[in-house]
Amino acid sequence: MTGEGPDLEISRAWLVDPATGREGAGDIVVRDGILAAVTWLSGADADGIESDGVIVAPGFIDLHVHLREPGNEDAEEVASGLAAAGHGGFTTVCAMPNTDPTLDEPGVLARVREAAAASGSPVELLAYGAVTVGRAGEQLAALGELADAGVVGYSDDGSPVRTAPILRAALAYAGALGLPIVDHAEETGLTAGAEANDGYVATVLGLRGWPAAAEEMAVARDLAVLADVVRDVPGARLHLTHLSTAGALDLVRRAKAAGLPVSCDVTPHHLFLTDEWLAGARRWPWDSSGDPWADGARVAPPFDPSLRVNPPLRSPADAAAVLAALADGTADAVATDHAPHAEVDKAVEFGLAATGISGIETALGLLLSAVDAGFLPLARAMEALTTGPAALLGGLSRRNGSVGLIEGTQADIVVFDRSQAWTVTADGLASRGKNSPLVGMSLPGRVLVTVAGGRIAYEAADA
Ligand code: DOR
Repeated sequence: MTGEGPDLEISRAWLVDPATGREGAGDIVVRDGILAAVTWLSGADADGIESDGVIVAPGFIDLHVHLREPGNEDAEEVASGLAAAGHGGFTTVCAMPNTDPTLDEPGVLARVREAAAASGSPVELLAYGAVTVGRAGEQLAALGELADAGVVGYSDDGSPVRTAPILRAALAYAGALGLPIVDHAEETGLTAGAEANDGYVATVLGLRGWPAAAEEMAVARDLAVLADVVRDVPGARLHLTHLSTAGALDLVRRAKAAGLPVSCDVTPHHLFLTDEWLAGARRWPWDSSGDPWADGARVAPPFDPSLRVNPPLRSPADAAAVLAALADGTADAVATDHAPHAEVDKAVEFGLAATGISGIETALGLLLSAVDAGFLPLARAMEALTTGPAALLGGLSRRNGSVGLIEGTQADIVVFDRSQAWTVTADGLASRGKNSPLVGMSLPGRVLVTVAGGRIAYEAADA
């Protein structure tokens, strides 16, 4: 196998093709980077092939990553971020514009694209432009110029779109340009100085509470503004990213039922990690007894700064509601909010640590943990990483017109082995951001090969 136009034969695997809803035993052949043959096996040929071994799926698409370049290359570079994506099974990523300088004009996008080209990575890098100049919330960025330059939407992520009038104008302009506004829903009046999810754990640990209402007020505002704008601009689209509370997801559920053009994503960490982890009780939400201080629950020291994230890790009940929203389609996609940070920004007391989890390499393992435990069908997990995000990108990716295991197209696939666990280590992460609370843990589903756009993006040393 070579870096360019690889040849690959995977026999007697479990194929998952969310685009057609088909999964089952099969073989695939890649010739010179082209998916030359997809053969579904049946009858005796399929005997003994189950969905618990080697899986082949379309390459994953991440709607929300931070690559930190330009401006904070100590935390991540485009090259290291794309390498991390490949390691995680992702073949397309959408970078947030909270770089320094802000990606609020085409010149910064050009720099990011140059870095991607220089990296040699075949992972497709898409980018959002900022909604407002410098993400300062005061003046709309040059949305039209950014659209011409090829952004896939607009976001002031890291912060919400600050005011309702700016959001209203942004939804209207972006809608006319056929692009979504991706909002980080946070009423900052309620989160100033907040450290951890408002509730039992924060109270006992003495951390200042970050209320669910901060997210739910912001979602309600955004939906009210959207409802108003769509009357004049039917193309207006709102995407809410990293939703974390039961109430926020319920608002989206109802807005969708009412026909509003809204979509949302949820992160692996809000699905499977909870505020109990801050107390040292590192267990899945479904294993929670409600008391992280109960005998035997604590397995790690409290206050690990790698767990500080915006929005904060919520209660086990919220995590269960996030999972229910993913299962019922209220959440359209899983996006990682991969937020690498330099050690110096994390090795401080909990409430002072930079917010964010380096998460693109552990997303699959977390989802598979829920699949293994019987809380998420494998097919839904794969949809949430492929066709779900592709639908939100419309035709803007050069590849997502062909999400799926389609013969004759450039191979864009991930091959992983559900039966192989791997231990997360700082050195083993390709990301510069070692700020993962999962370091030291064993996760299911080792990625063997990621092929992006017909070229190898990642290959395990022993694959
Ligand atoms: O935890 C977060 N980190 N949430 C965000 O919204 C921004 C991100 C970052 O840029 O570090």
